Amino acid sequence: MITIGVLTISDGAARGQREDLSGERVRSLASQLPEAVISTSAIIPDEQEQIAAILREWCDIRHLNLILTTGGTGLAPRDVTPEATRSVIEREAPGIAEAMRFQSLQFTKMAMLSRGVVGVRGRSLIVNLPGSPKAVKECLEYILEVLPHAMNLLT
Ligand code: MTE
Repeated sequence: MITIGVLTISDGAARGQREDLSGERVRSLASQLPEAVISTSAIIPDEQEQIAAILREWCDIRHLNLILTTGGTGLAPRDVTPEATRSVIEREAPGIAEAMRFQSLQFTKMAMLSRGVVGVRGRSLIVNLPGSPKAVKECLEYILEVLPHAMNLLT
């Protein structure tokens, strides 16, 4: 069984001003993984400490295998998901992040604006996806087939 947490990071969605279409897209793609169970989901604002705290809880207390975040990876002043992720991971997995950016460039040059980070804390893999449903699909579909082996290596 692969336990998965989906974390939407968006001021607008956290205030209830915007529907969480990206989180929904992450859940529907991630549930295609063999033996995947979406264990938990949350929507939080672009606050670095809040993001780091929930990532630590999902890794250290809930021991999720995979945490997929969406949003907050760009260059806007409130985009702090990469900083929050970097503050909690023990080892970075840059190949996965670079593969997503590489593939995304086929769709849009804007892909180079995503600063998403991927890394490991304990036995949990944390993957930062960009914020739009379109970007979630383009990035997550590309790495999906590699994730079961990544999970195997971590357990
Ligand atoms: N990646 C893919 N595959 N497709 C996209 O449409 N949009 C980009 C980029 N990555 C995009 C993408 C844009 S416009 C931005 S600003 C950055 O992701 C950061 O998005 P975020 O701040 O919502 O995380």
